[in-house]
Amino acid sequence: MSKNKIVVAYSGGLDTSVMVHWLKNNYDAEIITFTGDLGQTKELSGLKEKALKSGASKVYVEDLRKEFVEDYVYPSLKAGAMYEDAYPMATSIGRPLLAKALVDVALKEGANMVSHGCTGKGNDQVRFEVSVGALAPDLKIIAPLREWEFKSREEEIEYAKKHNIPVAATKENPYSIDENLWGTSIECGVLEDPMVAPPEDAFQSTTSPENANDNGDDVSIEFVEGIPVAVNGQEMDSISLVKFLNAVGAKNGVGRIDLVENRLVGIKSREVYEAPAATILHFAHKELERLTLDKSVMHYKSIVAHEFSNLIYNGLWFSPLREALSAFVDKTQERVTGLVKVKLYKGTLRVTGRTSPYSLYDPALATYTAEDQFDHKASEGFIKIYGLPLKTYNRVTQKVKNDRKSAVA
Ligand code: ARG
Repeated sequence: MSKNKIVVAYSGGLDTSVMVHWLKNNYDAEIITFTGDLGQTKELSGLKEKALKSGASKVYVEDLRKEFVEDYVYPSLKAGAMYEDAYPMATSIGRPLLAKALVDVALKEGANMVSHGCTGKGNDQVRFEVSVGALAPDLKIIAPLREWEFKSREEEIEYAKKHNIPVAATKENPYSIDENLWGTSIECGVLEDPMVAPPEDAFQSTTSPENANDNGDDVSIEFVEGIPVAVNGQEMDSISLVKFLNAVGAKNGVGRIDLVENRLVGIKSREVYEAPAATILHFAHKELERLTLDKSVMHYKSIVAHEFSNLIYNGLWFSPLREALSAFVDKTQERVTGLVKVKLYKGTLRVTGRTSPYSLYDPALATYTAEDQFDHKASEGFIKIYGLPLKTYNRVTQKVKNDRKSAVA
């Protein structure tokens, strides 16, 4: 009988494969692996056999795609969450769900520990551990990469060979890649130099804008209360909709992001992202908000968006503030219903039309034709009172200048 029971967040890569064996030995533990499918395209085949061969006694692979898009991605879309105005949160919005699913398995299996393969200098360790802590305060968390003896990939491979742990014989990828339905994060290798443009081989799905077709593509996206429900007149379930926009965006070179960002752990890092669907949906959603949100709500909401993206990025999804801000965001979305037409062309997006049953754009007020209903005369009194404080202030300015001059003299 083993002393401990550990559920490992398992990807099937070198680190987590070595981890399974290492934890079993070093913690005298029974190992159960857990892998969540968030729509990553490359990693899931052969996973079960690999985990068992590495020493796991039981393997969980769960399809979390629908929950991911509807309960994590869409709330962040409605909030307009873009970390540092650029990163639509692909990796960071996946972590709380993976942590939650990991905790569910741990509680079901009566495990006393969970473990993950995040490094000791990234954001993901924080997101995992803070989320697990919030959901199951008494589970112990082990981060082998922070404590084990291996100093390099080669040492891990050597350990794997010695213990018959299956590792892929394919050539090592020069990049570290994390992928899900909402986007792909790519770092390491030559990308560590912020002065070097990302080589084409860094990109996993998008065509370069230069090579994209000359006609581009038109997409029309229909939203109901801030949530996309149909594309080009066709209703789609959430997973298909995101996949469809990823494909058409990728084909047009849309959604490449090159970002020097501020990590929670205090360093700047450079990451390249591919997120075509996220880029298109944030763009279209914002256009619909311009049409339907009251000015003060729209302006205030950008402050909330900023805070919301920080909460996600910094691992605080399961926090009372995030929940309270989500309630605010949902209230604002009650009228964000309508249709937005977007032209995708060689890496760019352009709005080509927008309409909503709840549009606040009133042609009778906006027009410069004879149909105009706006009360031009009322502007005169408005300006008088609106500008009054500045007149008063600047009448005093001259006196201030004179008084300061005579004080110096
Ligand atoms: N910088 C991103 C974040 O903190 C992605 C981190 C993971 N990146 C990777 N290439 N494995 O959310």
